[in-house]
Amino acid sequence: MNGLSLLLGIAVLLVIALAWFAAYYWLNPHVASPDGKARVVGTCGDVMEISLKFREDRVAEGSSWTNGCAHSFNCVCAAVDMAKGKTAEEILDITGLRIQEAVGGLPRDHWHCAGLAAETLHAAVDNYMQASPGVAQKRGKQR
Ligand code: FES
Repeated sequence: MNGLSLLLGIAVLLVIALAWFAAYYWLNPHVASPDGKARVVGTCGDVMEISLKFREDRVAEGSSWTNGCAHSFNCVCAAVDMAKGKTAEEILDITGLRIQEAVGGLPRDHWHCAGLAAETLHAAVDNYMQASPGVAQKRGKQR
């Protein structure tokens, strides 16, 4: 009987782990093989992740994740939405202030959420530029 209880316990834990894993991926859609990605930890300790997929020098897909509060979630989602269809250079114009405006404003003690979203977005673009030296050279010639 003890052996059967142990097996049942393991089976229940396995089902819970699989359900959590499935829910994690369902609630956090991600970009397969991103061209640029970043994970930044804010001064508040919250973490944001952004992955970007470029097509013809413009963001075609993007995904985000954060373990932070609702403001953090809104800001990082807005950052990715604002990046869609833009070039790497255009994305660098997306500031924390613009993200704040996009989410309809933030309480003063959460302004940093928008700043962290902008920082994470820019870090993902930097990652893309470093992984695509041809793009960086082309941008350098255009300036
Ligand atoms: Fe830390 Fe929003 S509370 S990023």
